[in-house]
Amino acid sequence: MPLDIITGLQRGDEGKGAIVDRMLATGVYSWNVRFQGGANAGHTVTVGDQKLILHLIPSGVMHKKVELGLGQGMIIDPFGLREEVEQLVKLGIDVINRLYVSSGAKLVMPWDKMLDWAIDRVRAKAVGKKVEEGGGVATTQRGIGPAYANAISRDGITVAQLIRPKVLEKRLEVVVPVINCTIRGLQQELGLSNDELPEISIAEAFEQLKPIGEWLTPMACQLHNLLRESLMSVSDKWVLAEGGQGRFLSVDALCSYPSCTSSITTSNAVFAGLGLEMKKEWIGKIIGVVKAYQTAVGNHPMPTYIGNEYQAQIQEVGGEFGATTGRKRDCCWLNALELREAARFCDVIYVTKLDVLTNIPLIPIATALVLNDDPFTELPETWDEYMQCHPLYGINMPGWTGDISGIRKTEDLPRQARIYLAKIARITGKRIIGVGVGPEREQYCT
Ligand code: IMP
Repeated sequence: MPLDIITGLQRGDEGKGAIVDRMLATGVYSWNVRFQGGANAGHTVTVGDQKLILHLIPSGVMHKKVELGLGQGMIIDPFGLREEVEQLVKLGIDVINRLYVSSGAKLVMPWDKMLDWAIDRVRAKAVGKKVEEGGGVATTQRGIGPAYANAISRDGITVAQLIRPKVLEKRLEVVVPVINCTIRGLQQELGLSNDELPEISIAEAFEQLKPIGEWLTPMACQLHNLLRESLMSVSDKWVLAEGGQGRFLSVDALCSYPSCTSSITTSNAVFAGLGLEMKKEWIGKIIGVVKAYQTAVGNHPMPTYIGNEYQAQIQEVGGEFGATTGRKRDCCWLNALELREAARFCDVIYVTKLDVLTNIPLIPIATALVLNDDPFTELPETWDEYMQCHPLYGINMPGWTGDISGIRKTEDLPRQARIYLAKIARITGKRIIGVGVGPEREQYCT
């Protein structure tokens, strides 16, 4: 049965969680899985009158019949995961019995967060700025970069190793000295004492990690075998894979590098990230999620930054504050160059938060960029060039007024809103299958 994929086409925060929720409500999926990233992602889940922000557990956790999987392409902070599980259990949501963590996933270790913080400071120092002034990558400080780097350079620890104390101890004996070399270098570069940036002790790390390994043991499994079974079954056992971040935070997005995350965020990463062999008969729909405007948190090229009074309006109406860091998200108009590039990675499109653009008199879309007086229509090959580009707004369309949050059919939307959607469809070359018009589960048009 098919593997459907939800993938972000911008810089994360497109509202993928709400689409996952709506899709799972159809009842055809038995799995909701993640395949890349870690606790840098964030989505809000409402339980009664309580709101929880989850970072690792897939967005569909509230669908009680759906099994939840964390794939081997993810990097998992086991302590963060335990906190999320405990919060959910406290609110009466059974998650332990339906959470499956790939034994092949690498872990975010406590030292990875420390390295994330320190390394970004070294980057900023190298250019004579603070991280907050645009000197570093301005990461979410969840340890993502160091954990992926350690994983790739073979100094990571897998879930399978964590849950076997003897193996864990042997791994720490090899890994910790390597990490400590990095820590000593960072201490020296940043003028920090061992109290401020402490070296790791193998014995202490083992004592800290052994209990969390015991806690994780019942959830650790060969997730790919379970998923394969579902995908090969003839009954309705669909799998919904949920991407974290978006196309322009992908480590392979040329124009974003190095101001990006450390994983491949596109639909390309699904099979590897779930540990599955690629079979074309398994691929169902690939749904690209596009917010009706764009946002970014961190140090990103934003030639279409709104910058006028509508910046604050969109930020406020759209609730554009980072779920992971609480930072204000910068809001931008759409950029046709980015949309076109990102849409290569999906079959159909879901537009979110169209309601947020209501009451904006003129909505532009950039159709070209200008660098050193030269206009061009392909994305630049380097972040440095991209940071210097200015937009050419080839589309400037009048907006719409009135509350659209109660509309359920695209054809009933105001004419100008329909024209805006048609422009997005034309730029991307993809059909729009849904349009979000409010935060509630039923507030969307088809
Ligand atoms: P990292 O993934 O924590 O290393 O952060 C790298 C960059 O990606 C930073 O600019 C972050 O703000 C950004 N980022 C990572 N995850 C997300 C996300 O889920 N939404 C928005 N931005 C993100």
